[in-house]
Amino acid sequence: MSITSTPLTDRASWKSLEAHYQVIQATHLRDLFAADPARGSRFTAEALGIYLDYSKNRVTDETLGLLIKLAEESGLKAKIDAMFQGEKINITENRAVLHVALRAAPGESIILDGVDVVPEVHAVLDKMASFSDRIRSGEWKGHTGKPIKNIVNIGIGGSDLGPVMAYEALRHYSRRDLVFRFVSNIDGTDFVEATIDLDPEETLFIVASKTFTTLETMTNARSARDWSLASLKDPAAVAKHFVALSTNAEEVTKFGIDTANMFGFWDWVGGRYSMDSAIGLSTMLAIGPDNFRAMLDGFHQVDEHFRTTPLEQNLPVLMGLLAIWYNNFFGAQTVAVLPYEQYLKRFPAYLQQLTMESNGKHVTLGGSEVNYQTGPIYWGEPGTNGQHSFYQLIHQGTKLIPCDFIAFTRALNPIGRHHDLLLANVFAQAEALAFGKTSAEVAAEGTPARLVPHKTFEGNRPSNTIMVDELTPSSLGKLVALYEHSVFTQGAIWDIDSFDQWGVELGKVLAQRIIPELENTEVGSLTHDSSTNLLIERYRSGRTANV
Ligand code: F6P
Repeated sequence: MSITSTPLTDRASWKSLEAHYQVIQATHLRDLFAADPARGSRFTAEALGIYLDYSKNRVTDETLGLLIKLAEESGLKAKIDAMFQGEKINITENRAVLHVALRAAPGESIILDGVDVVPEVHAVLDKMASFSDRIRSGEWKGHTGKPIKNIVNIGIGGSDLGPVMAYEALRHYSRRDLVFRFVSNIDGTDFVEATIDLDPEETLFIVASKTFTTLETMTNARSARDWSLASLKDPAAVAKHFVALSTNAEEVTKFGIDTANMFGFWDWVGGRYSMDSAIGLSTMLAIGPDNFRAMLDGFHQVDEHFRTTPLEQNLPVLMGLLAIWYNNFFGAQTVAVLPYEQYLKRFPAYLQQLTMESNGKHVTLGGSEVNYQTGPIYWGEPGTNGQHSFYQLIHQGTKLIPCDFIAFTRALNPIGRHHDLLLANVFAQAEALAFGKTSAEVAAEGTPARLVPHKTFEGNRPSNTIMVDELTPSSLGKLVALYEHSVFTQGAIWDIDSFDQWGVELGKVLAQRIIPELENTEVGSLTHDSSTNLLIERYRSGRTANV
């Protein structure tokens, strides 16, 4: 893939967008809607059962035309093709980026270094399915002959966030007689609380780590092994109570897990793009192989949409371009993702790794410092909880926070009036943000003059509303893929490597230096900065005082 030669801010479309911003920043959504009665239908796109209403964004036809031109000038189409063709677009790690191959249908073919990777993907999926069937049917027995009732996934980052998010999102489809727990934090409390009420004879640990060297995961995995063997006594029990999800067979063997109990994947699957790989084993155990395959099919449908649909109707491209519009021209620092669906309560946390580990970069693919903003901060909470917490700032604060509202037409738990009330709220929030309430309207209600400014809503606060029929394994796959490819679109335009994560390394290295200083007080004098030295000393002496 060739690196686009003209620097981003020198491209003609960028300059036009800068000029266009000066015009549009003073335009209110009220005026845009008043001038075009069809705006609410014109500024929408729909595909694969996903309805994207982007009419409440501060855009006109001209804005969209310019953003599409920016995508073209940035070589977006060629970059999409390069990813799907297995080119090594993760240039700093010299790796292909082929999470799309994880959901390719059997019989499709994606060639990497002369080898079709799709059959390998399906071989692992089949192995996962047969293992899942054995656990779910009770055929797989623990060391003492009891079936497995509890499944504990140990992993962190991409080896945790996807599995937790998908488990919570698809709980409606999950086996309620199996208990699922997720341990990620190196804080011992996480492990202790996750296992406190579990019977080791009925507990399976899934050690999920691409590298199988991550400090948190390996520490938790060792504690899990101690916890198991403290009751089961026999080291042979590991074979019945531990499986590994990894690319690193050597380390898996060193840990003591037979590679027969290992489910593999490949270096072309980034951690934050791995929930469809073997890393999804806990998801498959919860919802079953058929539902897992339906989820993969949802991902695949959006992959094909992203690869083949013209940019103007391409859902992830539109979402990515709108994110750029606010991030780079309006100076918005954050994006709020607000699912009006309780099952999606971990979706914002999942998106935080996907978006920020991908696009939190400060140099271009060519290594030059960027002279523009890259990845915004993503955050959010499920509706309606956020309305009674931080929405105040979105409505009346001084910051512009574009919002993605996500809602489902049909409830999975349709009790009483709940779903109508939930949906009334999501529509009302988007409406209030866009149109606000003028001071004249507030005054006309008889509000005392001194309160009018406090009760006025400026409006003009942008949002997307994404509507889907129902939360299913397939629609979850579609939603996640939508954001994956929106992230890709943004990274492609910013000309950054969205698939490496060097920024996590320094802290890991420094922690390795500090660990012996905490564990072995014989270590000579501390040579950090004065602040770090003092913090370490305070910890050392405080810890001893407690003993
Ligand atoms: O430290 C960041 C990171 O490398 C993430 O990118 C990754 O998802 C996570 O750690 C876990 O890595 P692993 O699966 O190798 O344990």
